[in-house]
Amino acid sequence: MRPLTTVSLHVSLCLTLVLLAGHRDRAAAVTLSTSSRWIVDESGHRVKLACVNWPSHLEPVVTEGLGRQPVGAISARLAALGFNCVRLTYPTALATNATLSSLTVRQSLLAHGLTESVGGVQVNNPGILDLTLMESLKAVVASLAESGVMVVLDNHVSRPAWCCGDDDGNAFFGDRNFDPEVWVDGLGNMATVFADVPNVVGMSLRNELRGPRQNSQDWYTYMQRGAEAVHAANPRALVIMGGLGYDYDLSFLGSRQVGVTFLAENKLVFEVHWYSFSDARAWETQNANEVCGRAAREFARRGGFLLDRGLPLFLSEFGADFRGGDLKDNRFFPCAASVAADLDLDWALWALQGSYALRQGVAGMDEVYGVLDWSWSKTRNETVLPRIQALQRPLRGPGYAEALPYTVLFHPATGLCAVRPTASATTLELGPCNETDAWAWAPPASKLVLRDAAGLPCLRAEGRGQPARLSATGAACGDALSTWRLVSDSGMHLAVDTAAAPTAPMDGGNGMLCLDVGADGRSVVTNPCACLRGDGACDPERQWFKLVTSTRSVARKPAMLAS
Ligand SMILES: *[C@@H]1O[C@H](CO)[C@@H](O)[C@H](O)[C@H]1NC(C)=O
Ligand SMILES: *[C@@H]1O[C@H](CO)[C@@H](O)[C@H](O)[C@H]1NC(C)=O
Ligand SMILES: *[C@@H]1O[C@H](CO)[C@@H](O)[C@H](O)[C@H]1NC(C)=O
Repeated sequence: MRPLTTVSLHVSLCLTLVLLAGHRDRAAAVTLSTSSRWIVDESGHRVKLACVNWPSHLEPVVTEGLGRQPVGAISARLAALGFNCVRLTYPTALATNATLSSLTVRQSLLAHGLTESVGGVQVNNPGILDLTLMESLKAVVASLAESGVMVVLDNHVSRPAWCCGDDDGNAFFGDRNFDPEVWVDGLGNMATVFADVPNVVGMSLRNELRGPRQNSQDWYTYMQRGAEAVHAANPRALVIMGGLGYDYDLSFLGSRQVGVTFLAENKLVFEVHWYSFSDARAWETQNANEVCGRAAREFARRGGFLLDRGLPLFLSEFGADFRGGDLKDNRFFPCAASVAADLDLDWALWALQGSYALRQGVAGMDEVYGVLDWSWSKTRNETVLPRIQALQRPLRGPGYAEALPYTVLFHPATGLCAVRPTASATTLELGPCNETDAWAWAPPASKLVLRDAAGLPCLRAEGRGQPARLSATGAACGDALSTWRLVSDSGMHLAVDTAAAPTAPMDGGNGMLCLDVGADGRSVVTNPCACLRGDGACDPERQWFKLVTSTRSVARKPAMLAS
């Protein structure tokens, strides 16, 4: 995460704790390994990492939020929100500087003038206040275990501080505060301390390598050494390697494999980051379909390609301003979510924290990317949460091959899917993706058919603002108004060609109707396709439907009556 300018905003919303059954049962005490691109448990069943980042690497080295809420309540809440894992950050110094790691939470907070935080920890976590910083981190990990949450320990910086800049002395091996020997020692020490803690499933070697010194030669030299140190101390853990350029670039792995002695143990995972602000001007000023298409191809080039080579990839930081008012994030997030769903990625959202004890010199700074609000007692924005929760459930992979591959009509702007609300319905609504039908569609253009329903009814456009309707089989199925193609660079505008239709319905003039969400915010309709290209001033996200492949079993609905 790079420095951002943030504005304080305190949100009052009540949280309804939704227990997402089944998701966290398996989580707490598993040993993970990899099977081609998938992360799997001891029985070879896929475990999808659906994590949230939770920092402990800033100056006080106290896990954020301990001054605001009891640690058990925070852990239980994030588990209830459906996250099965936390990427828990720490600075190298915690594992290499005994003066630092033996400070108590109270002493460290006071050393930074945070008397108010001391009071907060006294009230919310009295048992932690006089623990050492290392014991405090262990207490957080133990609390996550009680809620069935897995932990990836992430070496975020060398000296405790907000991350990251090119010239902060932490950027690359050999920098002022980044002695590779100290770093390898730190990784080994940390892996040793947590070797017997069952819910620590992975160790991330280093966050966001970057800066003028970065080069792939040194990357292989040191990352391989760091990996060996972690594996020697904790052979159970996944060893997670980030790329160069703020973890935006793993492309160099295309021409040279990582060489470690424990390759056969299947423990290596790669991590990559993705934010709107790396293409801020493009997202704000250019056509969102074109920017999304470009960014998705760029994601494939800089890391996504590893999946095709049978290597696991963890999108370990991505996120958006939860207040919903940031144009670039509003365009970026559905685009990134469509890629995450399409590739069924393992991921970690940035971030859990609603606020920081101390960040960049500001006490009590708000985090607008936070799932929780400033007080850590409520979620920041319940409207936005489903967009993230939609990505928590695995769609395919070992153990989830319950059905032949089928298509899901995913609507990333809401985190919902186009579904039949009832078995006899002939129109669609946005509904939970776990209640989808199995659709069949073939590129570049074909009918969209309900694969498992009697008579294979297909989806047909009926005109501007009209619901798209499941029509009977036969002649109508596959005509111009029921032949769907993807017509924009984002690959998410699903359109029929009205000009070619024998009786053209009103289409707004561009010869096409696109799938859209009706004015009621629920019904699935067709409308003139919005800002397919060129226009940078309009927002197409409402018309974005991603055709995602799943092999999960579908709740079979009774056959429709043929009309
Ligand atoms: C170790 O930590 C202490 C306490 O934060 C700090 O004063 C000292 O400079 C650190 N030592 C090194 C070598 O970084
Ligand atoms: C939550 O997000 C929605 C959608 O982006 C936005 O319209 C709304 O204002 C946000 N609410 C709060 C309380 O931030
Ligand atoms: C789908 O998930 C929702 C919660 O998001 C739940 O209420 C519902 O029962 C689930 N449906 C099925 C068929 O599992």
